[in-house]
Amino acid sequence: MSESTAGPSTPSRKRSRWQNSDDNDHEEDQQLIINPAKRRIKLKQPASSAAPPNRQIPKYPVHSVYVPPRTYHPPITPSRSVYSYERLNQIEEGTYGVVFRAKDKQTGDIVALKKLKLDEEKNGFPITALREINALMACRHENVVGIREVVVGDTLTQVFIVMDFIEHDLKSLLTLMPSPFLQSEIKTLMLQLLSAVKHCHANWILHRDLKTSNLLMNNRGTIMVADFGLARRYGDPVGVGGMTQLVVTLWYRAPEILLGAETYSTAVDMWSVGCIFAELLLKEPLFQAKNELELISMIFKLLGPPTNNTWPAYSSLPLAQTITLPPPHPHQFRQKFQYMTTAGIDLLMSMLTYDPDQRISAEEALEHPYFTFVLFIARSCYKFNEVHRESPLPKHPDLFGSFPSAAAGEKKRKVFDSPSAPARASDYKVLTEFDM
Ligand SMILES: Nc1ncnc2c1ncn2[C@@H]1O[C@H](COP(=O)(O)OP(=O)(O)OP(=O)(O)O)[C@@H](O)[C@H]1O
Ligand SMILES: [Mg+2]
Repeated sequence: MSESTAGPSTPSRKRSRWQNSDDNDHEEDQQLIINPAKRRIKLKQPASSAAPPNRQIPKYPVHSVYVPPRTYHPPITPSRSVYSYERLNQIEEGTYGVVFRAKDKQTGDIVALKKLKLDEEKNGFPITALREINALMACRHENVVGIREVVVGDTLTQVFIVMDFIEHDLKSLLTLMPSPFLQSEIKTLMLQLLSAVKHCHANWILHRDLKTSNLLMNNRGTIMVADFGLARRYGDPVGVGGMTQLVVTLWYRAPEILLGAETYSTAVDMWSVGCIFAELLLKEPLFQAKNELELISMIFKLLGPPTNNTWPAYSSLPLAQTITLPPPHPHQFRQKFQYMTTAGIDLLMSMLTYDPDQRISAEEALEHPYFTFVLFIARSCYKFNEVHRESPLPKHPDLFGSFPSAAAGEKKRKVFDSPSAPARASDYKVLTEFDM
C-alpha cells in the first residue's frame, strides 16, 4: 500500500483500539503521527525479514484523544548560588535577617540580599520564611519590593532572598531628612502605600507588620512595601484554628489585637497604615508606647474611650474586662493635627477607628476626597452649602527630592530606636494548605 492512499477512510488499515475516535478532527491528527512512524519501521527492517504484523514504533508518543494535552510545567531548576553575587556592604541586621547590598556578577545589577536567620532552627525550614517568599511572589506590584530569586550558600542554613535594591527605608529617611515631607508628598506616598495594601489584600495576603522601617523608598519618589516576614494568607473562614496575636510591631498594633481578638483581618493593616499616615505628618511615630498597657491608654486618650456605638464588640473581647476605661471624653485629633485639612483628619480618623468592621479599607481610602481635586463637603461641617477645595494635589513622584542613600553606604546610618517586630517562634505551626 502506498503512503498516499493511506488515510482515515482506508478500510484495510489496522487501527489500535487506543486510537479509535469518534472525533474526525483527531483522526486526522493521528495519521500525521502514525504515517511517519510506519515509514521509519519500513526503513529499519532488513529487506528479508517480515515486520511483526501489529508492531508500530511511533516517533512521537501517541496519547488517547480523550486525555487532554499536557499543560506546560516549567522544569525544576536548582537555586543559583549566592556566589553569583558580589557582596558590597551590610545594610541592616533586622530581627529575622541580615540584609546586604550586592552586585549580580552576570548582569551588574545592584540588589539586596536578605539572609534568612536559620541557624537556630531545629524544626527545619521555618514556615515564616516560606510565607515571606510566598507572599512576596503573590503580591508583585509597583509598590511592593520586587523579589528576584532565592539563592543558597554552602550550608543548609544559608538561604537568601534576592530583591531589588531600594535606596532608603522611610524610617531612616524621616530621621535624616532636614524638613518633613510636604502635604503634597505625603498624599503621593499614602496613595502608593494604599495601592500596595489594596493589592496585597486583593491577593488574600495580610502583611501584619506595616511600619515605616518596612517601607522602602527610592530616589524617584516611589515607596515599596517590604518585609513580608509576618505575612500570611487569610480567607473565609478567617484564621482557622485562631491567629497569633504576636503580630505587628507594638506602636502600629491595632486595638483588636491588643485586646486579644482571636481572629482579625485586613483592618489590622489599615490601623498600621493610619499610624504611618500620622507619623508622616508628625515626623515621629504616633504612639511611642513602652508596653501594651501604655499603648492602650495612649489610644484611649487620642480617640476617646470606646463606646457601644464606636465599638459594639468591645466588651466581648478576651482582655476587655481586665481594662478600666477612663471617663468619656471626645477625641483629640484636631488638637494633635492642628494644620491638617478637614478631609485629611477625616481620612486619618477613618483609619484609626476602633471597630475593625467600621474601619476604612484600602480600596475605599484610595477614593477618599483627601486625594482628589473635587470639591469636598466636610463631614463635620454643618453648613452643607460651604465647600472646601482639597489642596494641594499629590506631587508627581518625579518631583521628589533625592537623598544620600545610607543603605548604599553614602552616609552613616543612625542607630535604630523603634521596637522590633514580635517574635515569630510562637507562630511556628504545622504548615497547612490554608496557611500557604
Ligand atoms: N530591598 C531592599 N533594599 C534596600 N534595603 C533593604 C531592602 N530590604 C530591606 N532593607 C533594609 O533592611 C532592613 C531590614 O529588612 P527587613 O525589614 O526585611 O528585615 P527584618 O529582619 O524582618 O527586619 P525587622 O525585624 O527590623 O523588621 C529594612 O528596614 C531596610 O532598611
Ligand atoms: Mg523589617
